Amino acid sequence: MNATSIIFLHGFPFNGSAWKPQVEYFKDRFEVYAPDLRGHGTAAAPSGPWMIAHYVEDLKHFMDEKKVPKAILCGLSMGGYIALQFVAKYPERVAGLILADTRADADSNEVKMKRYETIEKIHREGLSGFAKDFSRAVLSESTLRERPDIQKHVEAMILGNAAGNMAMAVGALVARHDNRSTLSSIRCPTAVFVGTEDKITPPELSELIAGGVEDSVLRLIEKAGHLSNVEQPDVFNHHIDTFLKNNFADLENAVEETTA
Ligand code: MLT
Repeated sequence: MNATSIIFLHGFPFNGSAWKPQVEYFKDRFEVYAPDLRGHGTAAAPSGPWMIAHYVEDLKHFMDEKKVPKAILCGLSMGGYIALQFVAKYPERVAGLILADTRADADSNEVKMKRYETIEKIHREGLSGFAKDFSRAVLSESTLRERPDIQKHVEAMILGNAAGNMAMAVGALVARHDNRSTLSSIRCPTAVFVGTEDKITPPELSELIAGGVEDSVLRLIEKAGHLSNVEQPDVFNHHIDTFLKNNFADLENAVEETTA
């Protein structure tokens, strides 16, 4: 048992390697996990349809398997949808929450229609056009201008997935719950981070989450779009560090003592 486990939950349509800057930074002080989630990267892709509820059960099985009774969950975008639904169902398994570039509400009818067009496009054309467009949409202007390597990495993560699995994952996004009514029942320490240039889940959606979770903190990350942990890893890690020090300092000391 390790009370200081942090589980990083990536967004759609990426994989666990999106958390490399965080895993590298925190791995010596905490037990960190950044699994590939259902249908993404090397993860299993059971027959569908999929819902976020399936990702929630996958996470519970993962924690059971790793013998992690309770963890700090850090979810970005889709990872945040999973974390929010997980904490509503299994609050006793969550020590803390970090919700990055995500939202609590469900899709509007207009967005649902667009999602179905995306599913059709992926089935029709595969992932190459989608990967180009999506990698542009998720990154800030400054990242696109100054860090072509990041855009390449994002595109490669997308193209590493099977098209059919990504179509199924979009189905899970579109069918997700509206989690706004569950925010006020969250009792664990919670931090909300968002890139100021996030076009997919703009900052006002993070303000809504932070406003709904008692005593939560909101951190805006400059020069970052939807992938704030990849675009501004040092700032993102610093905010996690502060959150951990403010809420879990005793646990970190406990790890230092046992590993000394
Ligand atoms: C993500 O990054 O997980 C997706 O953009 C989520 C979404 O499209 O709702």
